[in-house]
Amino acid sequence: MGIFSLVTGRPGPSGFGSATTAEQVTEGIDASDVTAIVTGGGSGIGFETARVLALRRAHVIIAARNMDAANEAKRLILNDDGDARVDVLKLDLCSMKSIRAFVNDFIALDLPLNILINNAGIMFCPYQLSEDGFEVQFATNHLGHFLLTNLLLDKMKATTRVSGIEGRIVNLSSIAHLHTYKEGIRFDGINDQLGYSDKKAYGQSKLANILHASELSRRLQQEGANITVNSVHPGLIMTNLMRHSFISMRIMKMLTYLLWKNVPQGAATTCYVALHPSLKGVTGKYFLDCNEMEPSALARDERLAKKLWDLSNELVDSASKD
Ligand SMILES: NC(=O)c1ccc[n+]([C@@H]2O[C@H](COP(=O)([O-])OP(=O)(O)OC[C@H]3O[C@@H](n4cnc5c(N)ncnc54)[C@H](OP(=O)(O)O)[C@@H]3O)[C@@H](O)[C@H]2O)c1
Repeated sequence: MGIFSLVTGRPGPSGFGSATTAEQVTEGIDASDVTAIVTGGGSGIGFETARVLALRRAHVIIAARNMDAANEAKRLILNDDGDARVDVLKLDLCSMKSIRAFVNDFIALDLPLNILINNAGIMFCPYQLSEDGFEVQFATNHLGHFLLTNLLLDKMKATTRVSGIEGRIVNLSSIAHLHTYKEGIRFDGINDQLGYSDKKAYGQSKLANILHASELSRRLQQEGANITVNSVHPGLIMTNLMRHSFISMRIMKMLTYLLWKNVPQGAATTCYVALHPSLKGVTGKYFLDCNEMEPSALARDERLAKKLWDLSNELVDSASKD
C-alpha cells in the first residue's frame, strides 16, 4: 500500500483500500451481540464510526466531553434508524477524575463491553497542561486512553468469558507518529515546555498510541485473554482536528488534495479493525487503508513500549495521589 494505492484507491491484500468507506467494509456484518464505546464519537471520524457500528446493530456508547455535539450525533443516528441503540456519556480525557466518573457511569449501566475505540484526539495545540498537570496532547491522546482502557479491561474480560465473543480495542494513531522527538517519547521531560513542539508533541502522542496497543496486546496474549488490540492510521481527513492549524491545513489540502479522504473513508479502517471477521485473533498490529502496515522502527520497539507502559502507570498513580 503506497502512494499509488492511496491516490487510486486500488484495494490491497484485504480486498479494501483507501477509497473503501466504513459502510462498505462492514457490509453484511451483524454486530447485534456487540456493545462498543467510541471516544470522541460526537464528531468527525468518531461520529461516522459510531453511526456505522449502530447501523450494523451494535449498541454504541458515545463518550464525549461536548455533550451538545454528542446528543446531536445521537439524534442524527436515530433520525436515520429509529431502532439504533445509542447512548451518550460524559468523558473528558484530559481529566482523570472525569475518566473515573465515566467508567463508574458505564459500569452502572450494567452493559457488556466488547469493543473499545480510543478515537478522541487533539492536534498541534499550543503548550498547555491538563487538569492533572500533564502536557495536553500526551494527556488527551495517550494518557487518558491508557487509564480509560485499564479501568475498562475487567469489564471487557468478563464480557468475553460470558459471551465467547472476541473483545477488540482499537487505538486511533496517525502516520504523524513518524514525526516525533528524536528519542521517540520524552521520558525525561514529558511535560517540559522547553523544546516543546506542537507538531512533535502530537507525533509523540500518536507514537504512544501504537506502543500502548502493542504492549497491551502482548500482556493480554500472555494472560490468554480473548481480546485483540490494534492501532490504525485513518488517512488524511479534513475535520475539527485541524482547528489549531486550519489555514495551513487548508493550503496543504489544496496542494495535496489527491491524498485526502472524506469522513466515510476515514472511518473505514477503524470499522474494519473493530468488526471484520477476517481479523479474528489478529493483535498488536498497525493498519492503514484497511490493510496491515509496518509502523516506524520506534513504534516497533518493544523496550520503548514497556518503558512507556511503566511511565504511564507512574503518571496515573502520581495524579491519583494528589
Ligand atoms: N483527521 C485526520 O486527518 C486524522 C489523521 C490521523 C489521525 N487522526 C486521528 O483520528 C482521531 C479522530 O480525529 P478526527 O479527525 O475525527 O477529529 P475531530 O473531528 O476533532 O474528533 C475528535 C474528537 O475527540 C474529542 N475530544 C478531544 N479532546 C477530548 C477530550 N479531552 N475528552 C474527550 N473527547 C475529546 C473531540 O471533542 P470536541 O469536539 O469536544 O473537541 C472530538 O469529538 C484522532 O485521534 C486523530 O488523532 C485523524
